[in-house]
Amino acid sequence: PGDYCHEEHCHNGGTCVTGVGDDPFICICADGFGGDTCNLTQTGPCVSNPCKNDGLCEVTSPTRRGDVFNEYTCKCQTGFEGVHCQINVNECAAQPCNNGGTCRDLDGDYTCQCPSPYVGKQCQLRCTSLLGMEGGAIAESQISASSTHYGILGLQRWGPDLARLNNQGIVNAWTSASHDKNPWIEINLQKKMRLTGIITQGASRLGTAEYIKAFKVASSLDGTTYATHKVQGQRKDKVFVGNTDNDSTKTNLFEPSIVAQYVRIIPVVCRRACTLRMELVGCELNGCSEPLGMKSRLISDRHLSASSSFRTWGIDSFTWHPHFARLDKHGKTNAWSPAHNNRSEWIQVDLEKTKRISGIVTQGAKDFGVVQFVSLFKVAYSNDGESWNTVKEENDGSDKLFQGNMDNNSHKKNLFEPPFYARYVRVVPWEWHERITLRMELLGCDD
Ligand SMILES: *[C@@H]1O[C@H](CO)[C@@H](O)[C@H](O)[C@H]1NC(C)=O
Ligand SMILES: *[C@@H]1O[C@H](CO)[C@@H](O)[C@H](O)[C@H]1NC(C)=O
Ligand SMILES: *[C@@H]1O[C@H](CO)[C@@H](O)[C@H](O)[C@H]1NC(C)=O
Ligand SMILES: *[C@@H]1O[C@H](CO)[C@@H](O)[C@H](O)[C@H]1NC(C)=O
Repeated sequence: PGDYCHEEHCHNGGTCVTGVGDDPFICICADGFGGDTCNLTQTGPCVSNPCKNDGLCEVTSPTRRGDVFNEYTCKCQTGFEGVHCQINVNECAAQPCNNGGTCRDLDGDYTCQCPSPYVGKQCQLRCTSLLGMEGGAIAESQISASSTHYGILGLQRWGPDLARLNNQGIVNAWTSASHDKNPWIEINLQKKMRLTGIITQGASRLGTAEYIKAFKVASSLDGTTYATHKVQGQRKDKVFVGNTDNDSTKTNLFEPSIVAQYVRIIPVVCRRACTLRMELVGCELNGCSEPLGMKSRLISDRHLSASSSFRTWGIDSFTWHPHFARLDKHGKTNAWSPAHNNRSEWIQVDLEKTKRISGIVTQGAKDFGVVQFVSLFKVAYSNDGESWNTVKEENDGSDKLFQGNMDNNSHKKNLFEPPFYARYVRVVPWEWHERITLRMELLGCDD
């Protein structure tokens, strides 16, 4: 970066910078001025871009036709319209969400919040498979519990592996031990799946009905950290209403649906004992490569951060902020660039909740005509923003290096195979051309 000049060489409010390139000084002109010393008045209808929302201004004709000024046109980014791209098209107006989904308009895109058991970009898919407690696809070894009740002098074992919907026999359900003050039963699905509901049922023991009247549900991606399912849009734990007798089934839906590998049912109120037969309702995860919202701004500015930001010639208004790192961003400073060009710099995206991340699209940019991009990078991810995992090579476990860009504009897509689950994602530039400069999008889904 250069220094400010001591003498004032630049006219009309231009900023003088020395020590850049071969010239003794360079003027960065204020809007509307040009030339080496900013003594030329720039003219033309596109000076001081009249187009909003990153629209591109193109001069059409410098003449006046009739009484209509028609000197430029604005080419709008997708999702915007109007003469000056001033209108954010409401993609929700077309009612893209099916089955009672709630639509939210984004810049150039929309998102549907689907009621269970519907899923998919437009809530068009039903997620209602029975996952195999009753059918047996879930093996005994996948079911565990905090404790087991042994009845009749220890001869009857009411183990967790018996907690299968409609299980028959005299001993046909799971019951927690009577001394167990914090009982739970857990299913390990062996991979991440989407869960939209649960069916519960009690049982009778020695001619008496036993069942769980109320319960909570917790879930985990890794079997270590668990999150209790909350009342939608609130911070308090959701308490599900369970059974009322020994035999009838009760179905509860999860709103929103849960994505997890481990599911825990936590009895809150039990009649006589915590006795359960059950089934889980859900589906496989699939088709997961939605843009997660860098370009559409679903990810807001305050959720983008970086190790540092570069300022062209040290000038604040030419700061390459992390929140400029949005795919296809336009403008003079239209990407993220760090203060230093070395391998300790990073840019971070906070997705606000754990998402499944399946890919990344990267793009370079230009700084006053100089093509700049990241040609090789690493990706790290975290659930708490503190402890980080780097995406590894499958075969030898070394940090994976992703091929980046080769020019100032084209999109380079890399897929994560397998995808990972994280709330925070960092891109760590490893090699670059001229200066580390990045625009990007993350691909994945809400799972
Ligand atoms: C602008 O400045 C240059 C030298 O700095 C001079 O040669 C030129 O005549 C000036 N132009 C105008 C329009 O003042
Ligand atoms: C259990 O349920 C069945 C069917 O609803 C009913 O006939 C039976 O009386 C119940 N047993 C007990 C112990 O409540
Ligand atoms: C990167 O550059 C900064 C500033 O020059 C320096 O403080 C830091 O130690 C460098 N890191 C590496 C890994 O070289
Ligand atoms: C930058 O990218 C644009 C669009 O692809 C291309 O037209 C232009 O030539 C590139 N600029 C340079 C300096 O390579």
